[in-house]
Amino acid sequence: MKKTARAHTNIALIKYWGKADDHLRLPLMSSLSLTLDAFYSDTSVEKTDGPNAFYLNGKKKNAADSKRVFNYLHLLQTKFSLAGNLIVHSTNHVPTSAGLASSSSAFAALAAAFCACYQIDVDKKELSRLARIGSGSASRSIYGGFAVWQKGHDDESSYAYALDEHPPMDLQLLAVELNSGPKKLSSTKGMKEAQTSPFFKPWIKRNDSELKQMVSAISNEDFTKLGSLAELNANEMHAVNLTAQPGFTYFEPDTIRAIKLVESSRENGIECYYTIDAGPNVKVLCQLRNVKEIIKNFESEFKNVKIIEASFGSGISYLN
Ligand code: DP6
Repeated sequence: MKKTARAHTNIALIKYWGKADDHLRLPLMSSLSLTLDAFYSDTSVEKTDGPNAFYLNGKKKNAADSKRVFNYLHLLQTKFSLAGNLIVHSTNHVPTSAGLASSSSAFAALAAAFCACYQIDVDKKELSRLARIGSGSASRSIYGGFAVWQKGHDDESSYAYALDEHPPMDLQLLAVELNSGPKKLSSTKGMKEAQTSPFFKPWIKRNDSELKQMVSAISNEDFTKLGSLAELNANEMHAVNLTAQPGFTYFEPDTIRAIKLVESSRENGIECYYTIDAGPNVKVLCQLRNVKEIIKNFESEFKNVKIIEASFGSGISYLN
């Protein structure tokens, strides 16, 4: 039986950037995200009598490129005492590995399609825990709107829940694609190296308070608070990268130019904020009335820049 699930990517406003347990993907901090309508993965899982096969965007991947997927599926099979080979088809409507967190939608859709294929009855909390083992950020893509991944302390207690799946807030995200090539350092490696920074522990200590402030900004529909806190949290994440031993950064010269453009737009009365993940691309948080002006500014500053508009996306869904 072939089963297909769709999951949207999410962007973290309070970042997950460190693991307490690599194998179970238990995080060192809680995180909070916004699920995006413009980017998603459709993934189908089907049992087969032939060998395992993984197709990404219609192309069959070799054993090395399929390893993470099948290691994960094997882990799920072991968990539910299942066996057998599988064919996986995944279509990513996200620029893969360009810092737009394609792994969040990919593993959320894969977990859901796997459970549907084997007719395993899971609720969203359980699905979030299963997706988390594939990729931490995938735990949040089970839900639409705003989601919180509570760090927990073991497999049972570390999962995401919906904060507000249908927020009435005026919030838009502009994904500015400056460099859509594959990223240089995976999130998994980057977040490990970041822990050598002298500022890593002090940052973790602030997590509770930043999360609480973000939750209250959301419930008060306070865009200024939400945007400035998201920007601060992203800068804290990139500061621990820069101060790791040895230091590193995902920023490219264009990343800095984009940051400066957001800052100058703000000074000129167009309220917007940036957040940046494990790649050079910048995401701009803004409100509907300023979208056109911000896009115009980026297009005049950067040649051939690609900007994708996004807003609140929905949670996991099943296509067959
Ligand atoms: C910067 O979820 O890709 O996007 O658990 O190792 O697969 P793994 O990491 P991943 O990391 C996402 C990091 C981030 C911040 C975030 O989404 O919270």
